[in-house]
Amino acid sequence: MSGYAARIRGVAAMRECDRILSGRRPTSLAEQLAVLAATADPDGLPDFYGEGGPVATLERRVAELLGTADAVLFPTGTMAQQVAMRYGAELTGRTAVGLHPLSHPLVHERDAYAVLGGLRAVPTTTAARNPTAQEVAALDEPVGTLLLELPLRDAGFVLPDWDELVATVAAARAAGARVHVDGARLWESVPHLGHPAAAVAALADSVYVSFYKSLGGISGAALAGDEALARYARAWRHRYGGTVFQQWPVALAALDGLTDELPRLAGYVAHARTVAEALAALPGARVFPTPPHTHQFRIWLPHPADVLNAATLALAEQERAWFVGNWQETEVPGLSMAEVTVAGPALEFDPGQVVELGERFLRRVASAARPG
Ligand SMILES: Cc1ncc(COP(=O)(O)O)c(C=O)c1O
Repeated sequence: MSGYAARIRGVAAMRECDRILSGRRPTSLAEQLAVLAATADPDGLPDFYGEGGPVATLERRVAELLGTADAVLFPTGTMAQQVAMRYGAELTGRTAVGLHPLSHPLVHERDAYAVLGGLRAVPTTTAARNPTAQEVAALDEPVGTLLLELPLRDAGFVLPDWDELVATVAAARAAGARVHVDGARLWESVPHLGHPAAAVAALADSVYVSFYKSLGGISGAALAGDEALARYARAWRHRYGGTVFQQWPVALAALDGLTDELPRLAGYVAHARTVAEALAALPGARVFPTPPHTHQFRIWLPHPADVLNAATLALAEQERAWFVGNWQETEVPGLSMAEVTVAGPALEFDPGQVVELGERFLRRVASAARPG
């Protein structure tokens, strides 16, 4: 089965489930079109090449939420962050960027920051968290930009505490660097940080936020900062091929997410603590971090990933209950990891129901492992 076919089989099974522990219920195209129709101003006109229409409305809304002078819509965060890092290099004359070895640009972007941007990475720390002030002050080379990924996804969606974040930013500034926040998941970081998203944006020189992760949009990102940054972002977005003729579906879906989903995220984060604690009680399970910093966290089970993925699918297709999907092998043979997302559907589970579903899932895993 191709990657797409396997994915779409999972999506179809998940859609039919009565209960979903991890993830959002996938929407059909008809449902998405209804959301766009309900969000659009019926007399409104589309955007053209990044100006006007729902795109302008979205950019204003994001700038208001983040307390920045402006925000610029990008087709992807990958593109937005390359522009932010390049800006830092131009302003400071330093092509080095302070990046965590587990950060998105270093792990998931085919070295675009280097190949397209002519930048080079200075690893900020070997620890599985964002760098401390001491680590930033002790970097071997001067960097033009320090990129902080909040939360650091590939370390388990981990966040610093507010005071640590403030100190790290101050250390970067003292070393003459600009600070860019990868806020792909900034919206749900607010409860742990104890400060609104605008306070995080005020600490940084630029912030990128995503519209399709926790907000459930179609795609898209915004790069927010002062007016000079926004002018630069629009110029380089054009050069990168990101000034799309019309982006109104993406903008409308993002606006819907900001209205509907953003206010719910704090509740998801609170419930993630309950779900994580219940899952940790399953035989052989480990979760991290405890308690989770956002509504997402990692779980490990001592079984091969293909067995776990088959059990998730079978449970969904035969019992209309979705446990946790997308199990991946770890470096320890027979130990697999998955990311858990506590969103709207998980609110229906109390701790006992989490354990009950987990045990049902593990019975399927055990029977798959038994010969015959
Ligand atoms: C932490 C982080 N940064 C950046 C990105 C890039 O976002 P996009 O898919 O819009 O390029 C992602 C996407 O998964 C991400 O998780």
